[in-house]
Amino acid sequence: MSPAPIRLVAAPSTGAQQAPTSTGLRVPTAPRSFAEEVGASLRERPRRLPAHALYDALGSSLFDAICHLPWYPITRAETALLRQHGRSILEAAGRHPRVVELGPGNGEKLATLLHDVEARERPVDVHLVDVSATALDVASARLRRLPGLAIRTHVARYEVGLRDVVATRQPGETLLVAFLGSNIGNFDPPEAAALLADIRRVMQRGDTLLIGADLVKPTAQLQLAYDDPLGVTAAFNSNLLVRLNRELGGDFDLERFAHDARWNPAAQRMEMHLVSLALQRVHLPGAGLTIDFQAGETIWTESSYKYEPAQFVETLWNAGFVPAGSWRDDEAGFLLTLAAAR
Ligand code: AVJ
Repeated sequence: MSPAPIRLVAAPSTGAQQAPTSTGLRVPTAPRSFAEEVGASLRERPRRLPAHALYDALGSSLFDAICHLPWYPITRAETALLRQHGRSILEAAGRHPRVVELGPGNGEKLATLLHDVEARERPVDVHLVDVSATALDVASARLRRLPGLAIRTHVARYEVGLRDVVATRQPGETLLVAFLGSNIGNFDPPEAAALLADIRRVMQRGDTLLIGADLVKPTAQLQLAYDDPLGVTAAFNSNLLVRLNRELGGDFDLERFAHDARWNPAAQRMEMHLVSLALQRVHLPGAGLTIDFQAGETIWTESSYKYEPAQFVETLWNAGFVPAGSWRDDEAGFLLTLAAAR
């Protein structure tokens, strides 16, 4: 049986104009500032905020806390899979891998993968790419404790950082791109396909992509994962408003916005929203905005797409990859795949 075609509803795109570069990667022609990106997202209907904005220093700490919640098992599941299968993964990655992780978080997952990198003839070059300098500080500090690694950080969007990494590639090396934690879930299907194709375009045959994907699972389980009884996810979401108040001089009243997590079955995604609890006016001078919110109007802050295993394999295949290994945690509903550039 061939994999079911993916027919997911695309979220409105907030991407800037894209232009091809010499490396084949599309990068924004005019990189927008945080204020511009926030302003443009909040002007959209439905109103939105970019999910990467969740990860300021406090947001990154709150996300770390989420990963310890009993109701959010996927980080633990993925770490366990990396511990169990790290050796085979590294063997498949080749004798001289250059490793790049897109969105390393606190660095723990990559540390788990690389902790028993055997004494190689030369140190393994590891590149960490993230828009959050804070995340990179934490991740690189953790990875620098491991022997045999040469760590470099790139404060950049994934496509931009990856282009810089590829420029450092030496003859005889293979590239191992790690894209873990179901970070791919934040991209709507056309964006995910474009990103994977971009990654593939800078790869050579035999290079590998190690990618984690969260799977479709019972709605009650998903609901608890994104609206936990301790309120940590609510704090993670609401912290966006704290950030906008601090960085853009906003006057969002946190008492008048509520965290809302919804499963959208047609689109196969969890959505996080911040719901306005009243008719209210909010000023955001740093983004040149005054917004009148209706009661019940929401700001859509994140999408987390969930895949069926066959859909995910098809997505990888369509981007130019062939699965070389795949490991699954059925209890958490999580799939770790090593895909080779075909
Ligand atoms: C880090 C993007 C994979 O979507 O599950 C956790 C972020 N949001 N709880 C996810 C998140 C709400 C997480 N990712």
